[in-house]
Amino acid sequence: MTQSKKIITLRNVSVSYDAHTALEEVNLDIYEDDFIGIIGPNGGGKSSLVKAIMGEVKYRGEIVIDDLLRRGNHFKIGYMPQVSQFDMRFPISIEEVVLSGLQTEKGFFGRYTTKDRERVAELLKKMGIEELAKRPIGEVSGGQMQRALLCRAIIAEPKLLILDEPTNFVDNSFEQEFYTMVAELSKQMAVIIVSHDLGTITSIVKSIVCVNRSVHRHNSNILTEEQLRNYNCPIQILSHGHIPHTVLEHHSGDGCKHHH
Ligand SMILES: Nc1ncnc2c1ncn2[C@@H]1O[C@H](COP(=O)(O)OP(=O)(O)OP(=O)(O)O)[C@@H](O)[C@H]1O
Ligand SMILES: [Mg+2]
Repeated sequence: MTQSKKIITLRNVSVSYDAHTALEEVNLDIYEDDFIGIIGPNGGGKSSLVKAIMGEVKYRGEIVIDDLLRRGNHFKIGYMPQVSQFDMRFPISIEEVVLSGLQTEKGFFGRYTTKDRERVAELLKKMGIEELAKRPIGEVSGGQMQRALLCRAIIAEPKLLILDEPTNFVDNSFEQEFYTMVAELSKQMAVIIVSHDLGTITSIVKSIVCVNRSVHRHNSNILTEEQLRNYNCPIQILSHGHIPHTVLEHHSGDGCKHHH
């Protein structure tokens, strides 16, 4: 077997907000050919984990990013934040949102070329929202915004793509297309996708990382019930055919909160 290259190493990484510890002593290796699904309950620390990697939150411990991900003084990482956290009141257009994915390359005052704009149009078309290019972001739906944010995350052709709950607002019919696109992208770059839609992600990802204050990596897209139970939150697996469906159960008393 050929050895794939490690691109990110987290050593004893902890993230705290005031008195609240969101992540504790996390150790995790990420490789160039990874396609990771991050799962875990609400408030478990999934977004904190990806923000730590992006350098967007303060952390203790060490995060080493390999030169393979560097281009000059910035990182070849495409990041799509959780949409609820994105400020949609900015008076900028969808096209400008996507172009801003090139900002770290161009520098703050860099000019966008005709080629850049053509690339934007091409990506928007792929996502089925080409007619929204000039529309201010305050006037698009959550799902349309998520499509634009995926364009923004990939326009600079990253080596690692990080998606934080990318399909929260996307309708069912586009969701499947969205995942198919992400699976296609995963052939060219490492992909980390945070999702509550466990059934869907486990069928496309190669590894699963469970995040619930502590972090466990499983080098398989199928988790046994025992593995899940060992990771703190009671989780039940329902199997439908060959696709393992995983459902987070409610449990009281330890601060875990779940959707649904
Ligand atoms: N900026 C912040 N200030 C204070 N506490 C925060 C902040 N961001 C997150 N937290 C807390 O840290 C914990 C982890 O939050 P995080 O957003 O990482 O969880 P998550 O797994 O992404 O949740 P969700 O599934 O709801 O997106 C939560 O208890 C949250 O309330
Ligand atoms: Mg989150």
